[in-house]
Amino acid sequence: MLLVTGTSGALGGAVAARLADRDDVLRGSREPRGPGARLVDFDRPETLPAALDGVDVLLVVSAGYAEDDVVRARHGAVVDAAATAGVRHVVYTSLAGTAERLTIALAHRWTEARLAGAPFDVTILRNGLYAEVPVALAVGFTAQPDGVFAAPWGDGAVSVVHRDDLADVAARVAAEVHDDVRAGRRSGHAGRVYELAGDARLTGSDVAALVGGRYEAAPLGGTWDALAAGVPPYQVAHAASIFATLGAGFLARGDDDADHLAELLGRPPRPVTDVVRGVLGSRPAP
Ligand SMILES: NC(=O)c1ccc[n+]([C@@H]2O[C@H](COP(=O)([O-])OP(=O)(O)OC[C@H]3O[C@@H](n4cnc5c(N)ncnc54)[C@H](OP(=O)(O)O)[C@@H]3O)[C@@H](O)[C@H]2O)c1
Repeated sequence: MLLVTGTSGALGGAVAARLADRDDVLRGSREPRGPGARLVDFDRPETLPAALDGVDVLLVVSAGYAEDDVVRARHGAVVDAAATAGVRHVVYTSLAGTAERLTIALAHRWTEARLAGAPFDVTILRNGLYAEVPVALAVGFTAQPDGVFAAPWGDGAVSVVHRDDLADVAARVAAEVHDDVRAGRRSGHAGRVYELAGDARLTGSDVAALVGGRYEAAPLGGTWDALAAGVPPYQVAHAASIFATLGAGFLARGDDDADHLAELLGRPPRPVTDVVRGVLGSRPAP
């Protein structure tokens, strides 16, 4: 069986929906509902042996919304449980190399290292930043005068991706791995690290243009207090590192950087303009 974790979440749910016509797929969640659903809570490792019973391929959707030590404990627990249960192949949703300088990269790279030492085959899906993330952070924590997109992005650009594309890739890879394992062969995805940052890049001016406005580079100073007032403590450093890295120009994929998104989709990536417009949607026109 193929078990997908985190299926109450946006990404895991979208993956499960894409695999819904298969009879060999189980949906893991802290809140399992309906046939084929299993209780999976990385914070409660005691739930994992039953969840992994009969599972030969596991798609681990990262559970990153917490302090790093909590995330490491979660991911370490599921790696250990998969090894104990005799899972043959684990696919893990990680973070793109373009986002290497972000604080959130630490827990992902730690998890990749733990997986590399595990006694099963591994495929790493290094997901790019969802298009809504940097834009929503800017809109939420930077004063937005009418007709202006203000953000502490300097002259930098950020590579972003449509979450539906990441779900398409995860569903495809997990299904192909499972078909391989069921057929008794080692998957061609084994040992692969797929970079999925995509080819969409947003500058502040790009975002402003989508709503007919203009971009104003905001100072980094002042953003921290707003972030601290509006997000859980562990997210302040993560969000701040997105702004700081973006402003320094280190959050966009270089032309020579490897990327596998289009190859694994078998088509060009979806445009992200509607996602960005959706985040900005309620803002007045200039
Ligand atoms: N690439 C990006 O830009 C980006 C942005 C935000 C987050 N992420 C990462 O990608 C993951 C999926 O994103 P998303 O958009 O689907 O986020 P989401 O909708 O907020 O879902 C959060 C996910 O975390 C899972 N989770 C939380 N605590 C867990 C636990 N104790 N044990 C097992 N699973 C747990 C949830 O599973 P259940 O509720 O089903 O148990 C759910 O799948 C996030 O968890 C985060 O690590 C990536």
